[in-house]
Amino acid sequence: MGLSTGYNKIRTAVFISGTGSNLKSLIKFSKTNKSPISIDFVVSNNSKAKGLNYAKKFKINKKVLNFQNKKLSENKLISVLIKNNIEMICLAGFMKILSKNFIKKFKGKILNIHPSLLPKYKGLNTHERVLNNREKFSGCTVHFVNTRLDSGKIILQKKVRISKKDTDTSLGKKILAQEHKLYPKAILKTFNL
Ligand code: GRF
Repeated sequence: MGLSTGYNKIRTAVFISGTGSNLKSLIKFSKTNKSPISIDFVVSNNSKAKGLNYAKKFKINKKVLNFQNKKLSENKLISVLIKNNIEMICLAGFMKILSKNFIKKFKGKILNIHPSLLPKYKGLNTHERVLNNREKFSGCTVHFVNTRLDSGKIILQKKVRISKKDTDTSLGKKILAQEHKLYPKAILKTFNL
């Protein structure tokens, strides 16, 4: 991704809105020797996001912005990220759509994880739609973020088999377990590691 790992790890921010299980797995990964990134900042649009507890537990700086005025929130965010020398952003269950202006500021340095085999099932309620269409497989995708929703270059995907008994909850759980492994692998791949 045009970033050199060098000696220091790449300072990374994770954006969340809810549980933060992907944040937890990224923090765990970042503490391994093989990780090219460190997690130095957590952003949430939701002050009640459970995932914010991981920022507290691991003493990571955080910022909560409500995004009611998107432009204002994003401008505050850009300055706080720059102040913290953030070089890379991992979206992990972040439910707000970032503006073109924001994405351009961090061009090629924003990754996202999506719980489907993109380009299929972009957007919300993926598991429900997948099951309604009687798909045999679903999965998850890590991709670069561009200005179109869930449409940036795909880095890695993991396929998950759907069983006849699956509900959107059980499928979601199966896929989430794979997400936790896929995100670190995709990060390694972006650094050719
Ligand atoms: C994940 O399924 C992710 O793919 C989607 O939102 C969910 C976030 O889960 N975008 P968590 O907050 O990381 O537990």
